[in-house]
Amino acid sequence: MCGIVGYIGKEKCISKIISGLESLEYRGYDSAGIAYVKNNTVIIKKEQGRIANLKENINLEEESYMGIGHTRWATHGKPCQINSHPHKVGKVTVVHNGIIENYESLKKELSEYEWVSETDSEVVAALIDKLYREDNDMVKLLSKLKDYLVGSYALGIIIDGDDKLYAIRKDSPLIIGVSENGNFIASDVPAILEYTNLYYLILNDEYAVLSRDDVVIYDKDGNISTKNLLTFEGNREAAMKNGYEHFMLKEIYEQPKVIMDTIKEYISDLDTLKEKMSGLEKYEEIDIVGCGSAYHVGLVGKSLIEKYGHVRVNVDIASEYRYSDHIYKKNHLILVISQSGETADTLAVLRKAKEDGIDTLAIVNVVGSSIAREADRVLYIKAGVEIAVATTKAYSCQLMMLSMIALYLGIINGMLNESIFEEYKKLDKIITDILNDTSDTKSVAEIIYKNKDIFFLGRKLDYALSMEASLKLKEVSYLHSEAYAAGELKHGTISLIETGTPVISLITEDDIRLKTLSNVKEVCARGALSVIITNEEVLDKEVYDKLILIPKLHDLVGSVLVIIKCQLIAYYVAKLNGCDIDKPRNLAKSVTVE
Ligand code: G6P
Repeated sequence: MCGIVGYIGKEKCISKIISGLESLEYRGYDSAGIAYVKNNTVIIKKEQGRIANLKENINLEEESYMGIGHTRWATHGKPCQINSHPHKVGKVTVVHNGIIENYESLKKELSEYEWVSETDSEVVAALIDKLYREDNDMVKLLSKLKDYLVGSYALGIIIDGDDKLYAIRKDSPLIIGVSENGNFIASDVPAILEYTNLYYLILNDEYAVLSRDDVVIYDKDGNISTKNLLTFEGNREAAMKNGYEHFMLKEIYEQPKVIMDTIKEYISDLDTLKEKMSGLEKYEEIDIVGCGSAYHVGLVGKSLIEKYGHVRVNVDIASEYRYSDHIYKKNHLILVISQSGETADTLAVLRKAKEDGIDTLAIVNVVGSSIAREADRVLYIKAGVEIAVATTKAYSCQLMMLSMIALYLGIINGMLNESIFEEYKKLDKIITDILNDTSDTKSVAEIIYKNKDIFFLGRKLDYALSMEASLKLKEVSYLHSEAYAAGELKHGTISLIETGTPVISLITEDDIRLKTLSNVKEVCARGALSVIITNEEVLDKEVYDKLILIPKLHDLVGSVLVIIKCQLIAYYVAKLNGCDIDKPRNLAKSVTVE
């Protein structure tokens, strides 16, 4: 996921492009760049890291009236200056958001070009350069570009010596903003709102030619399109939420896609899984370390990896682990998990592990972050930028990546086989169905939101999941909540259960289903308001006030469904309580202090 912006008009372009990029930084921020035309020459500036780095190194007031900019979320090639956009080949400069799937075969066909970067986008620039040299007609060229490119793209294009800005899209978002003094291209509306709220929505295979005072849009058949000019009524922040009331809700709803983005390569075929995970089978013991939700997801990982991978797993909180003594096996792996890749305690654990000569693996979301750079090996999740402080989609993607490790180890040791791939492949559809009907989670929120104390119960894998369910609820709704191993409650904490105390029990594992149900009965006997989240009908109607049923899948695949239900409950409880859902008090998204 990247962000593109472009401007052509009567006013200077650089500060407009930079401010547009800043509002698209949520789409990716491992590097940024700009190309602008000055005295008939295209000048390119790009920097690794945040847009702020780029801003420091350019003159915002330079005389230029046409340019394109890009903020990057690396897909092909590591985050570095050379791989940053814009890419210039011959007469053509492009910014690209999307993935060109056939870039390797195109590269072979374009063998006359020399490649500077590792990106698929540079290949697009070369392709356009080649086609342009054939008949110098950009409109014709854009009409046939789809015949050459497989994949997704929103492109902003400048041609040497031409005073127009070109744009085209397929499966990556693109809008065209119009104002009195000039015209814009952008990946999303927030990028233009400082200057105009009037825009055209560009659809798949449509393309446009922008000049200082005109925009011509062509439909997919090459005819000039008479599109409706739309007016955006909200502010920048509202625009970035794509119509959702909060980022947390938007991110919950992104899960079908980002989970699939994270796992799809691994489950494409057995050889790919083996190639991507190769070497992990050599470890006799794994220590998983993280903070907050990353620690909680590690507990789920322990359950899955021990059950299917038959490898001993210890899980610890990074701030504890870094100061504790450890006994390492000969083949010992430290697996750190971090969404941001910058959490101070987790980073310290990684550095200490390296000093101690222990192999390190990181599961990280942010490409090029400190943890990603310093770990011996990285498995990236593809959650995209997460803005809500309370993690949802990143946790789920981390869980699925741990599931991939357990799957691999289980296949290597013969406990699992590739037939399970089919179940993973259905997951996005199943999650979408869950998100399409939230009546059950809303009604649970309505009966619990006024309570002070809430308990979550579960055993084994369900206990690990209940830890995160409880954290999600307390961090966004400020209700006191605790997760308990279902069999442990009676050893003290059950004294807190009184008439009407909500107890949410997670019951998904068959071997301990009846055991947990017995514990639910114990709390019901003391007047608890019982909610059960399970993947099988519960025959005894006396043990619950509300039942949330999820589809029954293999636990490597289906555990994530439980947490999605719990994320929704947390969200609706927080909403009913009028909390600041995206920025809960006292919290920070990335904790870079000890
Ligand atoms: C903060 C966030 C949590 C997150 C934790 C670890 O406390 O509020 O949501 O789980 O940091 O962050 P990381 O980026 O390392 O996953």
